Amino acid sequence: MDAIEKTRIPFDQLEDSSSGAMQRLFSDLIALAQNEANSIGDDESCEAFRVRWLGRKDSIRDRIKENWLIKAPAHAKKLIGTHFNTFATVVEELHRYKKDAIGILDLDVDHVDLSLPGVQRPIGSRHLIRQTIEEIERIFLSLGYTVVEGPEIETPYYNFEALNIPEHHPVRDDMDTFYLELPEDAPTRLLRTHTSPVQIRTMEKQKPPVRIIVPGKVYRRDNPDATHSFMFHQVEGLAVDSDITFCDYKGTMEYFVRQFLGPSVKTRFRPSYFPFTEPSVEVDASCHVCGGGGCRVCKFSGWIELLGSGMVDPAVYGFVDYDQTKLNGFAFGMGVDRLALLKYGLNDLQVLFQNDVRFLRQFP
Ligand code: DAH
Repeated sequence: MDAIEKTRIPFDQLEDSSSGAMQRLFSDLIALAQNEANSIGDDESCEAFRVRWLGRKDSIRDRIKENWLIKAPAHAKKLIGTHFNTFATVVEELHRYKKDAIGILDLDVDHVDLSLPGVQRPIGSRHLIRQTIEEIERIFLSLGYTVVEGPEIETPYYNFEALNIPEHHPVRDDMDTFYLELPEDAPTRLLRTHTSPVQIRTMEKQKPPVRIIVPGKVYRRDNPDATHSFMFHQVEGLAVDSDITFCDYKGTMEYFVRQFLGPSVKTRFRPSYFPFTEPSVEVDASCHVCGGGGCRVCKFSGWIELLGSGMVDPAVYGFVDYDQTKLNGFAFGMGVDRLALLKYGLNDLQVLFQNDVRFLRQFP
């Protein structure tokens, strides 16, 4: 029996309205729809299928609804409703599937050049700064250090006071600071000017021995030019234990410089001043470009300034409840961006922040 004829049977003449019989009835209809769908081959037959089964006027779906669902006695309505919904969904799916399939067949194969290569998506890579930080981390991890991080929004206490930089100390002028604009009664907050505050945060939480490095972003009120940026990157280092000497410090710095710039590079230690180290030292490396003879990179001095460092000033231990009679250690801080420029022979800091892909692609 054809599907349309089938649906003409009035409800009360259906053999019985039991669950099994109803299910069979609807399965038969679905099988018929499936059969007809199989012979759809073009837009026209697809549309005819839709009108016949799902159209707005007099479609098989409509007839079933009118003759069987609406006229069904109350007790059978729910059952028929369920079967009806399944039937309607399956037929809609059949139609959609056929329609999509015809759409694909409709592609004008003669004008599609299958020999063309596919679209090549560019592969991203780690930024040069990220690569440099990871290189520094690799070197210190091999010495048993761990990597820790800290907040970029800091309190004056961690950024200055606990690092032995009291208010009105002149070094605060060198670290021209961004203060957050907050309601008047709110406590002062600033963007950290260096990664050194994480020294304090770590020692507050952790008992000695401590061996950490701290990579991160820092901020200063500087106008951007070839050597300045209001945001840049540092890696801070701290080692505290009961038996650390100046020799350990020198050995660690020499090891780092050789690993980072190359085995033939020499180091030089120059006295300096930082409030949180005593003695304070700046580390220079022999110019890895000219080998020390003098060139533009080293400004014809043969040496390049690498980092600030020194033995931890005992005053700092006082702020974190470390016993300064039993402990000693060293700390260092380096500018990642500057190190990246040096290592890769670049002369403008801004290239690191412009994210021009022509530059980035040179460091895959
Ligand atoms: N925090 C210093 C700066 O930003 C760098 C520095 C110098 C860090 C000496 C240290 C250190 O830990 O010992 O200029």
